[in-house]
Amino acid sequence: PDVIRAEYLISAVRQEQYPPGDEPEIAFIGRSNVGKSSLINSVCRHRGLALTSATPGKTQTINFFRVFFKLSHNNSEARRQIFFVDLPGYGYAKTGRSTRRQWAKFIEEYFLQSSRLKRIYQLIDIRHPPMESDILFHQWLRRQGLPVKIVATKSDKITRSRMKEHMGVIARTLGIEPEQILIHSALSGAGRDELLDDIVQILLQ
Ligand code: GTP
Ligand code: MG
Repeated sequence: PDVIRAEYLISAVRQEQYPPGDEPEIAFIGRSNVGKSSLINSVCRHRGLALTSATPGKTQTINFFRVFFKLSHNNSEARRQIFFVDLPGYGYAKTGRSTRRQWAKFIEEYFLQSSRLKRIYQLIDIRHPPMESDILFHQWLRRQGLPVKIVATKSDKITRSRMKEHMGVIARTLGIEPEQILIHSALSGAGRDELLDDIVQILLQ
């Protein structure tokens, strides 16, 4: 399986602005600067598809991308379309209190409305234990019955020997098993194949 092509569609802050269609949709959330936009670019092998920045707070709207997948199974090849959704980060305090509340509202609306939402990848920086905002968001998604899965990002930033320990901390803090966590580096592309395989499982459902 691999991505053939990916294109930016639209930025939205309200439901009426979401693109039409019934293709499966995958959303990427996490703290500001955790690497959501970079991960989308890495999976799509398309630099500059989603805008990234070293300064937190780059993504401010709900950004939709159309991604064309090639699947090969049982000796046959199939093409599928899917939406990737890049979201603003949470846990970033620079914006004013009222802006934050509004932010929460339109993100919440997004998660509660979408019938085509098949997976939410919640990204956690592999170097640090999940913070309170990560835990609260994770619990909220689970309470809503939404299909959330954790991706530990920036794996190039720690040594292999420390990886296991860090994965244990992340898993324990969120109340999941370490084996359920995907690991990725947008810098090296490590873990990209596992992510693609995971996405394909969604497409084959
Ligand atoms: P917001 O849109 O502000 O919420 O941030 P984001 O989560 O979309 O993060 P973004 O992809 O913009 O990346 C933030 C910074 O982290 C950028 O400087 C990236 O180059 C860097 N970064 C992202 N992924 C990786 C990674 O896997 N490895 C390394 N070393 N740096 C990364
Ligand atoms: Mg971003």
